[in-house]
Order: sequence, then structure tokens, then C-alpha cells
Amino acid sequence: MAHYRVGVIGGGGGRGRSWANRVARWPKNDPHQLELVGIADILEIARNRAAERFGCKVYTDYVEMMDKENPDIVIVATPHYVHAPQAIAAAERGIHVYCEKPMCINLPQADEMAAAVEKSRIKLAVGFQHRFDPIYVALRNAVKSGDIGEVFQINAIYHWWRKEDYYLNSSPVPENKDLDWEGWKGHWPTEGGGAIANQIMHHIDLFQWISPSPVQSVFASSRVAKHTLVETDDNTSAIVEFQNGSMGFIQAGVAYQHDRDEVFGVYGTEGAIVHRKNDKGLFGIPRFFEDYRKKALKKAKRMWSYVPSLKINLNKAVMDNFINAVANDDANSISVDVNEGRKSIELLRAILLSQVHGKKITFPFDDKPTDYPALQHTYQDKDLV
Ligand SMILES: NC(=O)c1ccc[n+]([C@@H]2O[C@H](COP(=O)([O-])OP(=O)(O)OC[C@H]3O[C@@H](n4cnc5c(N)ncnc54)[C@H](O)[C@@H]3O)[C@@H](O)[C@H]2O)c1
Repeated sequence: MAHYRVGVIGGGGGRGRSWANRVARWPKNDPHQLELVGIADILEIARNRAAERFGCKVYTDYVEMMDKENPDIVIVATPHYVHAPQAIAAAERGIHVYCEKPMCINLPQADEMAAAVEKSRIKLAVGFQHRFDPIYVALRNAVKSGDIGEVFQINAIYHWWRKEDYYLNSSPVPENKDLDWEGWKGHWPTEGGGAIANQIMHHIDLFQWISPSPVQSVFASSRVAKHTLVETDDNTSAIVEFQNGSMGFIQAGVAYQHDRDEVFGVYGTEGAIVHRKNDKGLFGIPRFFEDYRKKALKKAKRMWSYVPSLKINLNKAVMDNFINAVANDDANSISVDVNEGRKSIELLRAILLSQVHGKKITFPFDDKPTDYPALQHTYQDKDLV
């Protein structure tokens, strides 16, 4: 049994508080034990709230927290633009990193993170807890089994909603102090994109993880459809081509106040498997569902359902995966390591850059962070209002 000292960077914010809480209440009978030793947050009110709630030491400066508390692990739960420098600073001190999604905001940052992890030999995991969702695991297994034949189309449709306040009241960061609102959400340089870089990042990861073939190219367009005060996208459509010739479609955003829908569908030459919001499981017509066939055929001629019955705590599962990798010194067992995390950043950046250049982006491509102003301009031209 190992005992790990954990610090949470951004531990006074929404996600950081929830991680600090999980660490502070880590089950006593677990094989490896976690201890919350410090929280770093630049916001005074957030620090005070955390100090009161968790009784641990709080710091304004995350480097000071690492140097004084000497944690074995840090959880990075800060705005997207500081994930890379914070994870790298931890790696340089030999501290393992659990980094919230997205891993960073562009490919040069991803490559710097990979180099730091490689050099320090620390373990780094990216917080994509939905990879442990039994629905998506079953979906991926069905695809891998070959039961639906050759996959020719994968669709990820996520119609979500966020109020404008979500952006305007997001926690302030110094870089935005002279802007209309100081919050980090909804500004290009600090969030690295809108819905596509934030909420939809989970589905971007699942999309390329479930596909049997790597992404080859992307043609995409985004809009600011509903959140007219916000710089970044709230609605995106992207056509993806995979190396094996199959295609994909991502249509997602947070502009859907009146129609919240979710469909993740994989379509093959021998069958299809589809997960829809509010369904308890998957619907499909592959041989994978053979065991359920007779029963279901009574109800419907062609479609039947397979319901993974497991209900698991996804956040506990993704953290267990990381802690076990640290304890067993086994980087290969991390569900999303730094190289795997880079894949979703590559797809995100391709989606964003496709519209800047108005053309299909073929992998690998040159990702220049300086494209941000052009991106912003492109969006403003396309505003609906
Ligand atoms: N995996 C998930 O399902 C999930 C859910 C929510 C959020 N997130 C991710 O968690 C991260 C935080 O999101 P949030 O919604 O909690 O944001 P938030 O604004 O509520 O919290 C961020 C916190 O970081 C602090 N902070 C900002 N800059 C800092 C710095 N340089 N050093 C230390 N602290 C700093 C802020 O003051 C704030 O308290 C993001 O990466 C987000 O995408 C993941």
C-alpha cells in the first residue's frame, strides 16, 4: 500500500474543489491512500473557501505550493491556457500530474508537455473520465470485435446549453483584466476555443478513441450562434475523414437552449450501434447483441438493445487508473497519457484551423498558436447578429 501527498492547483474553483473533496475523503480501505496537502489558487475568495472547507494549507502561487508541500501528485484543475506550464513545472520537480481536460490549448504546448514527461519520467494522465463509461467501453469493444463489419461512419452529435453568465461570471484571470469581462471562459487565449475546446472535448476524445482508424483530415466550420457577447464558438460542424477511408461527423455546441440531444453512432457494413441520450444502453444491429436477440426481436424487427448494467463512479475510476499507474510504475496502463491526450488536441486544433484557412486540414499539420487573431476575426464575420 502506498501513501501519496496530493496538491490541487486551481483547487478553489469548480472542478478543483470537487477533486480536493474527493482526495480529502478518499476511501480508507483503498489499496493506495491519498492525502490532501495543499491547494493553490490565484483567487483570494476561492482560497479562503478551500481553506475553510478542507483545512489544508492554501497558496496563491502553485510553484510555492509544490516547493513547500512537496506533493507526490498534483491535480491541475485550472483554466486551459495554464495547464501546460503548470504540468511542466510539476514534471520538472518530479511530481506526477493528473491534468484536467483539455490537456492544453495547442500542439506546441502538447509537445512541450510530452518532452517534459519523457525527461522526468513522471506519470501524466488527462482527465477524460468518460473513457470509463460502460456505454462507451461497450461501444468501443463492439467496434473492435468486428461484429459491425467495416465501420464507414461515426457520428457525434451533442446539443448542449450554457447560459451567457457561464462565460461572463467565470473566474477572473490577470491576462483578461482589461477586457470586457475578466473571466477565462469565452476568451480565445485563455480557454483555447469555446464549447469545442471545453464541453465537447470529451466527445472529441471518445470519437477518435472509438474509431478503428486514426484521423486523416478535417473540414470544419463554427459559429457564435447564441452567445453574442462571447468570442468563442458555441456551435460547430466538422466532417472528418479517417485513414481507412471511413468518415465521421461532429455536430456539437452549447447553443441548444431548446433541444438538448445526444447521439453517438457507429455505422458499419454489418450493423450499427447507437447511444442516444436518456437510453439506458446501446441500440444496434450487430452480432455483438446476439444474446439479446430473441427477446428483443419480439419487440422490434431490426433493432434491439443491449444495456450495460454497470453504474460506476467515472471520476473515481479515472483517478484509480492514474494512481495505480503511479503505484505500479506503469505508464502504459494510463487511460489517457500525454501522447493519447495530444490526439484530441490535434483534432481540436484541426477543427479550429480548418475555418481560419477555409479548407480541409490534413494530418499532420503545422499548428501555429498565432492563428488566434485570425480565428477570432473569422468568427466575428460569421456572427448571426
Ligand atoms: N472532466 C470534467 O468533466 C470537467 C468538468 C468541469 C471542468 N473541467 C475542467 O477543469 C478545469 C477547471 O474548470 P472549472 O470549471 O473548475 O473552472 P473554474 O474557473 O471554476 O476554476 C478554475 C480555478 O483555477 C484558479 N486559477 C486560475 N488561474 C490560476 C493559476 N495560474 N494558478 C492557480 N489557480 C488558478 C481560478 O481562480 C479558479 O478558482 C478546466 O480545465 C475544465 O475544462 C473538467
